[in-house]
Amino acid sequence: MKLSILANDKSKPGYLAEHGLSVYVNLPFAKILFDTGFTRVFLDNARKMGIDLNIIDYIVLSHGHYDHTGGLLYMPPVKNIDSIIVHKDALIPKYAMENPIRYNGIPFDFNEIGWIESKSIFVERLYEITSGVYVLGNIPHQNKQDKYYVDGKPDDFHDEMILIVESAKGLNILMGCSHYGVIEGINAVRSHFPGKKILNVLAGMHLGSKEVSEIKVIADYLETLELERLIPLHCTGEAAMQFFKQKFKEKCLLLEAGDEIEL
Ligand SMILES: [Fe+2]
Ligand SMILES: [Fe+2]
Repeated sequence: MKLSILANDKSKPGYLAEHGLSVYVNLPFAKILFDTGFTRVFLDNARKMGIDLNIIDYIVLSHGHYDHTGGLLYMPPVKNIDSIIVHKDALIPKYAMENPIRYNGIPFDFNEIGWIESKSIFVERLYEITSGVYVLGNIPHQNKQDKYYVDGKPDDFHDEMILIVESAKGLNILMGCSHYGVIEGINAVRSHFPGKKILNVLAGMHLGSKEVSEIKVIADYLETLELERLIPLHCTGEAAMQFFKQKFKEKCLLLEAGDEIEL
């Protein structure tokens, strides 16, 4: 499986960066676009990397935040795409309770764009996209993030879905923002795939405002998994990324837009 980072908060020289995430997942039997960033940055970076997004089979939108979905508006219709997979509640308007209040949901209407509307599949919980490839939503957790609101209530992020790719040796996990919590997300995957080894984790981890003690708890948990690769990016936060890099050394990859990795 080859992963190409198309949009991320940091980029290699010559590539564009933005606050957002988009990863191209190239499997022998399926080509998947995991998130689309906020703008057309992922398209420009893909072109520069020689990646043809006209041949993708699936788009998976991890959750209904602008920085993971907005780029879809700029995407030319993909003729032979099988489906766009999104949680049924990702489309509910979402807000960040800042001063002034900021809209941070999907910045366009699915129903107004014909190819998106006709190809969308709305899911929740566990859904098998194609053989050995799943999304898992409705992640159980107790974490409160009071800044984010949906329907006038603090967002519980049940619309955030994890992309899971099964290989002969175990599971590869991709998480957009991990708003439900990194540990809770991985534990949810483990409960659905008992006995399966977790090989690789790529994730925006949303740890920018966390104390070192909280980052350490997550790092200690990740250590128990004995991962082949940990790839923290997007909203993980600089302090957490450096903490993970120091702890996991060459097993931790700090990838930027424009980078590719074979797992
Ligand atoms: Fe994000
Ligand atoms: Fe998010």
